[in-house]
Amino acid sequence: MIALGSDHGGFQLKEAIKKHMEEQGYEVKDFGCFDETSIDYPTIAVPVAKAVVSGECEKAILCCGTGLGMSIAANKVHGIRAACCSDCFSAKLTREHNDANILCLGGRVIGQGLACMMADLFLTTEFIGEQHTRRIRMVAEIEKQESEMS
Ligand code: RB5
Repeated sequence: MIALGSDHGGFQLKEAIKKHMEEQGYEVKDFGCFDETSIDYPTIAVPVAKAVVSGECEKAILCCGTGLGMSIAANKVHGIRAACCSDCFSAKLTREHNDANILCLGGRVIGQGLACMMADLFLTTEFIGEQHTRRIRMVAEIEKQESEMS
């Protein structure tokens, strides 16, 4: 199951990606929003991020105006590695090197065709492990230390 979410700024892009993914046979869970009424991106980013961390959803794609607010909010949830990308190379490499579990996209930044291509790359590229595993563990350790300090 792949989670999808957006605010109003990413709504049209999320709808385009949803259609594209469903056409390819992906099972999608849409966490909203469901129209272009203004909505605060953390209210969508957090439930989507929690669905990924719990294992309910394997990965997620979040869209807002720039992709930035969604990535900042989603990355506050421990275990999330959300990457805001605007090009295919980054969408592929953030899987191979960062084992990113959420792709964030900007509806006011990129077109729907590019976004769908990036979603395809993100969802089909595997993490390559090796030295990157150590770096991801170091990032997880930062989360642990920060929560122990608060
Ligand atoms: C909403 O206007 C906009 O700020 C939001 O979609 C996003 O781009 C924030 O990072």
